[in-house]
Formats: sequence, C-alpha cells, structure tokens
Amino acid sequence: MIRIGLVGCGHWGPNYLRNFSGIDDVHMAAVCDQRKGALERIYKQYRDVETCSDFQDLIRRKDIDGVVIATPAQSHYDLARRTLEAGKHVLVEKPLALSVKECLSLHELALSHKLTLMVGHTFLYNPAIRKMKAYLDSGAIGKIYYLQATRTHLGLIRDDVNTVWDLAPHDIAIFSYLLGQTPRKVSAVGVSHLKAGLEDVAFVNLFFDDNVLGHIHISWVDANKSRQVAVIGSKARILFDDLNPLEKIRIYEKGVSLDRGYDSFGEFQLLLRDGDIISPKIEPEEPLRNLCLEFVQCIRTGERPLADGLNGAQGVETMCAIQESIRMNGKPIELGIPV
Ligand SMILES: NC(=O)c1ccc[n+]([C@@H]2O[C@H](COP(=O)([O-])OP(=O)(O)OC[C@H]3O[C@@H](n4cnc5c(N)ncnc54)[C@H](O)[C@@H]3O)[C@@H](O)[C@H]2O)c1
Repeated sequence: MIRIGLVGCGHWGPNYLRNFSGIDDVHMAAVCDQRKGALERIYKQYRDVETCSDFQDLIRRKDIDGVVIATPAQSHYDLARRTLEAGKHVLVEKPLALSVKECLSLHELALSHKLTLMVGHTFLYNPAIRKMKAYLDSGAIGKIYYLQATRTHLGLIRDDVNTVWDLAPHDIAIFSYLLGQTPRKVSAVGVSHLKAGLEDVAFVNLFFDDNVLGHIHISWVDANKSRQVAVIGSKARILFDDLNPLEKIRIYEKGVSLDRGYDSFGEFQLLLRDGDIISPKIEPEEPLRNLCLEFVQCIRTGERPLADGLNGAQGVETMCAIQESIRMNGKPIELGIPV
C-alpha cells in the first residue's frame, strides 16, 4: 500500500484526491489546506480522509510515503524541499519552482535521498498528445516545420504569477516532449491590461534545433476559449484540440515540400500533397490518473518519471527566459541547461 498526502485543496488539488482514491493499493492518508472552508468541502465528499491545516503536521506523519503539492507556484520550492528533507517522495504541480537554481537543488536533493521528484506536466500523460508524438516519430508528417499553441480564455486570473507562468508551462512541456528537444532560444512580448506588472497576454516564440519554430499565444483576456496545439510538417498537419471531446486529434494529410529532382543544377519543383483528414481513436484515459499511476510506480520501483525534476527545471529555465525577454521588449534570450 502506498500512502499519499496532499497539500492544497483549491481548484486543482481535489482532482488529485479523486484520482489517487481510485487507484488500487493506494491510500489517501491526509489532506492539508490553510483554508478551513476548503477542508470542509473535502470532508463532505471524503469522510475517511484525515485533514489538517498545518503542512508540518502532514510531513511529520510516519504513515505517508509521498506528498502532492497543489498550492500556488510561489510556495512550491519551500514545500517540496521540506517534503524531501522529511524523507518523502514528492509530486509538485507546475511550475516546479520559480528559478532554475531552486529546481536543480530539488532535483539534487531527490537524487541524494533516493526519492521520487515529479512535476505535474499533465499533458505528457495525455493519450492524445502521446498519439501525436507516435505520429511524429513515425515520420508520417514529414519534416517538422513549426508548432503553434493557443491557450486563451477569460481568466482564471491569478495573483501570484502572470499568464506566462500559469499557462505556458503546459505548451513548453508539450513542444519539448513532441520534438524530443528543449528550445535553444526564446523571444517574447507580453502586456498587462488588468493588474499592473502581471502580464495577462503574451506571444512567445521558441527556437529549436533543425530550423523548427514554436509559437505560443496565451491570454487571460480573450473571450474565445482555445486549447489547441498544431504541428505543421512537410507531409501533414496534426491538430490537438483539447476542447473537442470527439476528435481530440485530426491529421490533415496535406503539405508542401521541395522536390529537388535528379539533375545537379539545383532544379526543383514544389510538391503539394493533398490527402485525407483522419481522426484517430484515442484511449479514454484521464491524463491526471496516468500521471498519478506513474508517481506510484516510481515510488515502488525507484524509476525516474518522465516528468522528473530535470524536466521541471528545463521548463522553468524556458519560463525565466520568456520573462526576461518580455522585460526587454522581445530581446532573444539563449538557453540550455547543461544535463
Ligand atoms: N496541471 C494542470 O492542468 C493544472 C491546472 C490547474 C492548476 N494547476 C496548478 O495547481 C496549483 C494550484 O492551483 P489552484 O488553481 O488549485 O490554486 P488555488 O489557489 O485554487 O488553491 C491553492 C490552495 O492551496 C492552499 N495553500 C496554499 N499554501 C498552503 C500551505 N502552505 N499549506 C496549506 N495549504 C496551502 C490554499 O489555501 C488554496 O486552497 C498551481 O501550481 C497551478 O499551476 C495545474
């Protein structure tokens, strides 16, 4: 039996409670939140889960193997460090922390204590994103030209971080996972319309090896709710639409490339491909459940999760560079964590 504790029962935390409660041989031992109202709501649904309001009481418990941290971003580093120092495995919501230094120190701490450190990069556990990666890896879309993500809606507006730190970690994790590489350079612009100093809209450019570009449009002030990621290649375009319950992925077998022909004098012609639009079957699995299952598996076996501390650190390095580029009105910022 693996025993899990949870800190943070606001909007997102209860999803962990529901998922871990539904996994065999896992016991939700206790949940912690500073807000009494949050704990009362939990108690109404889960009568047998113990609750507490002091995080220290949670990590002091001997009957907890792993702790999930679903609190606001600013508290992640401190709570994760204390959890690891208490000898417990930890799953931290994104972003892992607010600086690369903090992320790497958590990564080192987990390694030295032989504990699992995992980040809530939920989309890496999404069956539709995994299917998308399988298509890319098979070569079915040809050479990848660029990726485009749109993550817009009205809010949910946060006080502690801007829209970049709130929303972009998802797309950065998705892009890096799909391409099997992290960005080499970023350039971004963003502005705040609602709360001074907290950007609520941003346009982010990411530069990858092999001439691949990525673009992310994030916004808290757009009435159009969109959760899309498109990959455009020489043979096809793949679209992931998280808001489409029936067709999460569509593959447009259409593309353009250059045919250089047989002669050596550089003659070429444009090759336009036209084909079907395919909507493959996607397994109806909840991504967060997959993530929780991997956390439990890693606690049991000592394996490293896909979304490990280094994966979290790479995401945070990109976030910091985006923030810096916004501050400098779009100046390109180079990056590359030595792994
Ligand atoms: N992976 C995803 O798709 C996804 C989706 C939404 C949110 N998130 C992440 O989940 C985290 C939480 O987001 P949210 O929307 O639930 O926030 P929230 O503000 O709604 O809830 C946070 C809760 O944590 C509690 N809390 C804060 N510090 C605490 C402490 N030291 N001890 C005990 N309780 C404490 C607060 O009282 C609050 O109830 C964020 O990091 C966010 O980025 C991830």
